[in-house]
Amino acid sequence: GIDIATLRQRTKLVTFDPGFKNTGSCYSEITYLDGENGILRYRGYSIEDLANKSSFLEVCYLLIFGKLPSQMEFDKFYDDMKEHFVVDEEMKKIIDGFPRSAHPMGVLASVTNALIAFNPSAVNVSSESEMYNTIIRLLAKFPVLVAWTLRKKLGLPLDYGNDRLTYEENIAMMMFKRPGHEYQKNDVIVSVLNKLLILHADHEQNCSTSTVRIVGSSHAGLFASISAGIAALWGPLHGGANQAVIEMLQAIYEDGGDTKKYMTRAKDKEDPFRLMGFGHRVYKNFDPRAKIIKKAADSILQQLQIENPVMAIAKDLEKEALEDPYFVERSLYPNVDFYSGIIYSALGIPKDMFTVMFALGRFPGWIAQWKEMRQRREPIGRPRQIYIGETKRSYVEIKDR
Ligand code: ACO
Repeated sequence: GIDIATLRQRTKLVTFDPGFKNTGSCYSEITYLDGENGILRYRGYSIEDLANKSSFLEVCYLLIFGKLPSQMEFDKFYDDMKEHFVVDEEMKKIIDGFPRSAHPMGVLASVTNALIAFNPSAVNVSSESEMYNTIIRLLAKFPVLVAWTLRKKLGLPLDYGNDRLTYEENIAMMMFKRPGHEYQKNDVIVSVLNKLLILHADHEQNCSTSTVRIVGSSHAGLFASISAGIAALWGPLHGGANQAVIEMLQAIYEDGGDTKKYMTRAKDKEDPFRLMGFGHRVYKNFDPRAKIIKKAADSILQQLQIENPVMAIAKDLEKEALEDPYFVERSLYPNVDFYSGIIYSALGIPKDMFTVMFALGRFPGWIAQWKEMRQRREPIGRPRQIYIGETKRSYVEIKDR
């Protein structure tokens, strides 16, 4: 009901870009993403090379410090972390206070924020060494929080890993060791976990990363900013899609496996059903991460000799979508979340933990983006709006309304 002239007059010169579909919010040197050609690079290195050749901890270093470390730099980086693997015992009480039915993303966001109470100095990041110490603390403690979140869910004791193992092996041990059983390192599991974490490690200015940058831009600390990122990642249109995908695939399976019926529903604008794990704001050709994950899912099912009927349903949906004009015209392809849940299921991870696994992969990217934002001294994030509400009104006492 408002004419353009009035709108212009009210808002002066404001760019209107809902969902920030075409707004660059920062300069960044971290991740290059070419959505038309399906290219993803961290600091110039292709995602394919990193996923096949690198380790998650090396990728953490790369994202945060901008280069691949020498052996000496890598060893120092990991040694510095080892001093901070222990999490305050009081944190166990906080985790224990949650019901086992609590969604693990809510638990993880809360305990990440609570960590500040036990590490108050981590808020000071004005010098380079303070910033380094804060980052090292989080890199050390966050995987412990993730493992404890999983162990709480499964009713297992909250204990620690073993710092003689690599970072990735230690993560696997903290998650998968069971009371009364000596932990046996499984190279297949560590290798697929490593790959998945690398594939999720950064993705430029997505919803959760933008959240981390915007919260951090008020000079809230790193832990608080990451906690906000976890909350943003939780939603089913973002990281929560990996849980939504497996629930969708299971529902299709239990409904007789008629994929065509669900393809028809996904195209019906009156039906709220969407093909979860399909579509992406930036990728309009293919998601290079999905290609790697699909191959890894096939391989892990084979290596662990697991038959998962939903894998066939996922492949059928992908094949049908590739031939369907609705999906082709809108450039809707499987994204990173489409096959990842099949791998997590094969590892015995409960489905409401899937998005936590995504957070574990993404947290070095969040740290790198937060560090870049602080070091560039970016201004506080504060978008404008175009006001379309009432103009001036006079206050009326409640008795007279
Ligand atoms: N199923 C059916 N139709 C879809 C789907 C889907 N999964 N995704 C997009 N569309 C349709 C839309 O209805 C719209 O159609 P229209 O032009 O006829 O109106 C068109 O494709 C464009 O979609 P938008 O929602 O406008 O695209 P946007 O960039 O805003 O959203 C998003 C991208 C959120 C990823 C969307 O594709 C979606 O909801 N996908 C399913 C959820 C999902 O998998 N999210 C994970 C993304 S990856 C990540 O965050 C890690």
